[in-house]
Formats: sequence, C-alpha cells, structure tokens
Amino acid sequence: MYAQMVKSTGQGVKPREEMSEEERHFQDRVDAGEKIEPKDWMPEGYRKTLIRQIAQHAHSEVVGQLPEGNWITRAPTLERKAILLAKVQDEAGHGLYLYCAAETLGVSRDDLTEALLSGKMKYSSIFNYPTLNWADIGAVGWLVDGAAIMNQVPLQRTSFGPYSRAMIRICKEESFHQRQGYDIMMKMAQGTPEQKRMAQEAINRFWYPSLMMFGPSDKDSVHSAQSMAWKIKINTNDELRQKFVDQTVPQAEYLGLTVPDPDLKWNEETGHYDFSEPDWAEFYEVLKGNGPCNTERLEARRKAWEDGAWVRDGLMAHAEKRAARTAAQ
Ligand code: 3HC
Repeated sequence: MYAQMVKSTGQGVKPREEMSEEERHFQDRVDAGEKIEPKDWMPEGYRKTLIRQIAQHAHSEVVGQLPEGNWITRAPTLERKAILLAKVQDEAGHGLYLYCAAETLGVSRDDLTEALLSGKMKYSSIFNYPTLNWADIGAVGWLVDGAAIMNQVPLQRTSFGPYSRAMIRICKEESFHQRQGYDIMMKMAQGTPEQKRMAQEAINRFWYPSLMMFGPSDKDSVHSAQSMAWKIKINTNDELRQKFVDQTVPQAEYLGLTVPDPDLKWNEETGHYDFSEPDWAEFYEVLKGNGPCNTERLEARRKAWEDGAWVRDGLMAHAEKRAARTAAQ
C-alpha cells in the first residue's frame, strides 16, 4: 500500500524492511483499517503529524469565524442573520472538537494557541482574504465550505480514532454550511443585474483561493506520502482539488455565473475538467503572512486570547479549589 505511495509521490516513506518490529505491527494495523487510539503505541512522527494537522485544522475553524462574523450584524434580513449566526457558532464547535482530539495526543490548547499566535502553526490560507460584501458570504459558504467538505469527508476514515470521530460530527454540519452559501448565491444570481454582478465578482475573488485550500500540488506536497501511508490523509491534494472543480463547475453554470478560468474545459478523455492551477507564488506569500488579512486575523485572535485570560484563570482556580476540596475529604 504505502510502497505504491513512495513510487507515485516519490517522497521518502520508510521502506518496510527498515522498520522496527513495532513500526511494522503499527503499519499493519493502519493498512488493515484499524483505528489507532490515544493510548496505543504510535511512531513519534505519526503523533507529530497528527498534532500538526489537527491543530491547524482547529485553528482554521476558529479563525474561519472572523470573515463571516464580520457580516452577522449586516445580514440583509433577520432570517439570513439567524442562519449565519448558527453557521459561525457551528465553526466554534468544530474548533472545539478538533482541539479536544489534538489534546488526546498530549498537547494543551494553550500551547497550540501560543504556537498559532507566534506564527509557528498555520491556519487555512483562505481565511486571509476579505469578505467585501454579502455576495462574498455566499461564495464563502458555497466554495470554501464546499472545498472543506471535499477535504473533510474522506478524513472521516482517517486512522486516528478521535480525529475520525470529530470529522463524522463535523461533516454532518458542513453540508448545511455549503447549502446556505449556495442559496445566497442563487438569490443573488437570479436577482437584480447589480446583485448578479456582485455574485460574479464574488466567485472571481474566491475561486482560486478556494483551490489553494487543498494544499500545494502533489509534486510540492512535503507531507502527503507519509500522511497517506499512515492514513492521516486519505487522498492527495490534487485528487481532491480535481473532485472539487468537477463538482463545482456545473453548480456555477446552473447559477449562470462564469468560473474565472479561460482554460477551464471538459476533457472527454479523462472525464474531468482541465483547469488552471492557482498562482502558487501568491499561495506561498499568503503562507508567509503576506496575504490581505493575515495581520488583522492574528491580531483578532491575539486580542480574543488575551481578553479571555481572566475567564480561563477563573475556571482553573475553581477547578484547583474543587480538586483540593475533593482530595481533603
Ligand atoms: N493553508 C495554509 N497552509 C497550508 C495550506 C493552506 N491552504 N495547504 C498546505 N498548507 C501547508 C501545510 O500545513 C504544510 O505546512 P506545515 O508543514 O507548516 O504544516 C505545507 O503547506 C505543505 O503542505 P502539504 O500538502 O505537504 O501539507 P499537508 O499534508 O498537511 O496537506 C492540508 C495540507 C490538505 C490542508 C491537510 O493538512 C489537511 O487536509 N488538513 C485537514 C483539513 C484542514 O485543515 N482544512 C482547512 C480548512 S478547515 C475549514 O475550511 C473550516 C470550514 O468549516 C470552513
């Protein structure tokens, strides 16, 4: 299984003959589709990769609330406000499930948050783009949550038990997120010419940043081969990106909107759309912190973390007092 991975992605995954007895047994469990639980033996690299991926996933959920939260007070109707409020609250819960899954690996939420705020850990590049008007909120639900679903559904089968169970919970809510976004785009695309123009501009702004969500192309992905060997990742970045394009282009056509890619074309032979890759130089600039909203997003997270310190301290003091009282009984 992972031997093909080495061939197909050409990245160093430890060949079986170089594995220790424990590593071979572990790999057999993963290949057999068993779930690895926190107390099970696991290679240190497996633990580290999980902490990196799950924590960055959790950071993405929490930071992802900012671009949409920006529009809760400016939603066009009370109904839209209630829907957006529910969605943003869901994202907070997704972050919670994922931080809890990461904590089973022996890290604390405080450490993970400090790593985010110091730039040592990432969150998804997509959240460094601004939401300029209400059509952007539709595009975020339709395209960003649509891409997230494409990426998260396979992760329900990931080898690490707590991550897989968190994904099952999260995926149940993601389809509502994507539908409410598409419903906004439908209303605007079928609305006044001005609303349709706004919807077209929103897909122009969010199309390529949404393609970037799946990560660099497979040839540049440093983690894919090992992550797939360990079933921390089930599909490659390019596989999921292609699936997303194939599913989303007909949806855009139904809306009467144009995907901003002159080279987009259905390929009868492959049975997929041929499409233009994102601007990878832009992608790496955003990862380096030079996207349109990186500073603003991290400042907002830092302020929330600092403003909330008194709540965490109070809860910890209460917990310590209760523990001391229980010990004294
Ligand atoms: N944004 C930020 N960093 C990215 C990225 C992106 N779109 N794509 C890749 N990277 C980073 C990786 O984290 C890695 O850097 P690191 O070593 O510092 O962690 C580097 O670029 C190389 O990329 P790889 O492809 O080698 O890395 P991975 O194998 O980790 O693949 C991934 C990247 C596909 C994002 C994978 O980590 C993954 O599937 N993560 C889980 C899903 C997730 O985090 N989704 C983010 C969006 S969540 C969301 O949208 C919430 C929704 O409710 C709106």
